[in-house]
Amino acid sequence: MKIDILSLFPEMFDGFLKTSIIKRAIDSQVVDVHIHNFREFADNKHKKVDDYPYGGGQGMVLMCQPIIDCLKTLTTPDSLVILMSPQGQTLHQQLSYQLSLEKHLIFICGHYEGFDERIRDYVDMELSIGDYVLTGGELASMVCCDAIIRLLDGAIREASHEDDSFSQGLLEYPQYTRPYEYDGNCVPDVLMSGHHENIRQWRLEQSLRKTYLKRPDLLKNRVLSDEELKILEK
Ligand code: ADE
Repeated sequence: MKIDILSLFPEMFDGFLKTSIIKRAIDSQVVDVHIHNFREFADNKHKKVDDYPYGGGQGMVLMCQPIIDCLKTLTTPDSLVILMSPQGQTLHQQLSYQLSLEKHLIFICGHYEGFDERIRDYVDMELSIGDYVLTGGELASMVCCDAIIRLLDGAIREASHEDDSFSQGLLEYPQYTRPYEYDGNCVPDVLMSGHHENIRQWRLEQSLRKTYLKRPDLLKNRVLSDEELKILEK
């Protein structure tokens, strides 16, 4: 996958691209990520990218020319252009899977009060990471890229995201590692039993229980299997 990110603050991405799983995915060519400062495309002497809003009002508005000219150098028939904005569809795990199947994603990160509305004519979708307003789209685009890149083949151990919270529409079951006993608190016996089927059933039950207690809304939108219904009826 190729990812291009348009931002006025490329330095914000340094830690993200140079750390842990994302760094490894880039080093092993699972993903190719480039950051573009669209200020370089401003066609005015002072490289200005924002201006006062027509009609008056608070704050500055990002001009369309620098962003659209930058986009034009990157877009191909394979590109999906995503505008980071609190007005967009909220990212969720299923959408991350869908986006991980794309060949080329282009993220546009705004800053200041907003964009000239005409930018939206060049965009395929708007994406939000939640109902709150950030100072810019950079953090939001990193959240989206992180959720997408870890799903790419070769980014993390094969199939290790199949048990993630949300991947089956449920929260993830509890996990334990060494020591066996900590502060009088022991690992559940079933996990020490080596009995794979009992472990599978226990994990499913725990996933359902956690989801029911913490996120009952997830169960409303999910068709439960016979096995899951039986567990919930217990
Ligand atoms: N830009 C500012 N706030 C945002 C949000 N919540 N999601 C995506 N982009 C944003």
